[in-house]
Amino acid sequence: MNDAGLAESAAEDLKWHDAMNALQPGNRLLRVVEEEVYEGRCLAKIPVALGIREPAYNRRLNVPASALERGELSIRRQAAPTPKWRNARGFEPSTKTLATAVGAPAVTREEVFSGDPYNNVSENIFSKMGRNLHHQEDHPLGIIKNVIWEYFDTLDGKAFEKFDDLKPIVSTEMNFDQVLVPKDHVSRSPNDTYYVDEETVLRCHTSAHQTETLQQGHDRFLVIGDVYRRDTIDATHYPVFHQMEGVRVFEPAEWEAAGVDGTEFAAKELKETLEGMTRHLFGNVEMRWVDAYFPFTEPSFELEIFFKGEWLEVLGCGVMQQQILDGAGGEGKKAWAFGLGLERLAMVLFEIPDIRLFWTEDERFTKQFKAGDFTPGGAGIKFQSFSKFPPCLKDVSFWVNDEFTENNLCEQVRNIAGDLVENVVLIDDFTNKKINKRSNCYRITYRSMERSLTNEEIDALQEKVRETMAGEMGLELR
Ligand code: DAH
Repeated sequence: MNDAGLAESAAEDLKWHDAMNALQPGNRLLRVVEEEVYEGRCLAKIPVALGIREPAYNRRLNVPASALERGELSIRRQAAPTPKWRNARGFEPSTKTLATAVGAPAVTREEVFSGDPYNNVSENIFSKMGRNLHHQEDHPLGIIKNVIWEYFDTLDGKAFEKFDDLKPIVSTEMNFDQVLVPKDHVSRSPNDTYYVDEETVLRCHTSAHQTETLQQGHDRFLVIGDVYRRDTIDATHYPVFHQMEGVRVFEPAEWEAAGVDGTEFAAKELKETLEGMTRHLFGNVEMRWVDAYFPFTEPSFELEIFFKGEWLEVLGCGVMQQQILDGAGGEGKKAWAFGLGLERLAMVLFEIPDIRLFWTEDERFTKQFKAGDFTPGGAGIKFQSFSKFPPCLKDVSFWVNDEFTENNLCEQVRNIAGDLVENVVLIDDFTNKKINKRSNCYRITYRSMERSLTNEEIDALQEKVRETMAGEMGLELR
């Protein structure tokens, strides 16, 4: 490249970074992808994180202020003068490559707090919506996401499409019915799921998007997003986490050519694909397939790996129930699907001991991770723990009433103390036969990842917890 060319692309890169910087503080830019088109077909959608690392791209930026306000960004990439660059599959990019940026469909307060009596979403949960940790390329969750995306880009044939900005508010139809979750399944209970109203929930898994994405005509895709579950609190459970869903559809000609039936064909392809993905993440590890049950697949499997001295479940998957595929316009075809949790993989690979760390903005955590340092097995990135501040333990005893559930208690505690709650555990449970009443004692551990807590502030929080238990929860404290 001559000097003028260099100067031009440097200037463009600057403009590019300006645009990114302008967008990031509000976290409104959800997704920027460059579509790589060949003979009219989209071969790959390259997330911007990868695009930025490719200075040979001659980007033209045109970002009107109004677009920034809306969190939208539209980028047109001009044809490279001499298209030397080839993608992983050896094609040259078309001269009409288009880059698009999609604004975040921001979740508004009104959408979440419907005022409906069925609503059980808390402020604490709402505050996590739109954080989009998986969009940060140097965040451990962003790193895992991109490593898996990269793997799917190396596969032969048409590229997998990627969706990481689908709205987490979905209908109960999408979250449960479309993926055949039985009517009496526990996950439908408001004790386990966040309801906006009786027919709308915060998705509890990315499987909620299978049907709509298939209906749009996509036949191989990945969906990544934040999912929400009411749950107890400890080092590995957090009411918001991130999942990736993968789906691939096959035509009859594909299994006929192989001389096997569709289910067998899909199951074999599924296992090969996911074993490859697992090696891409974990290196050469021992793997085993375990039979499993999911409402959406038949047969269903879990993949386990032997890693750091123990067997670890990596993902759930299976051959998609034909009813789901048929209902989404895929009659006569076959499909596989898988789902995995990003936090768990990141915790194991990078030795992150507490799930709350993903949410901290403490630089002692965030500065430790760099996308470029990833190596299969995670050895290139190891979390170095920084000094832990002392915990503060508080016990509360009460007579249990009919409405009491542990999830409700955790939800209330988290609402009051946010991420300062490390743990809520039942330490005593007895029934007084004479008066036929059951007593529980819970121990709440408060600890900050970032600073020392004062006795006064913990006492104030604990007092609020007790008030809420005695008030809203109607419990008789002892
Ligand atoms: N939705 C499941 C969960 O949240 C994960 C999962 C399992 C997704 C198997 C799938 C699948 O697509 O085939 O636990």
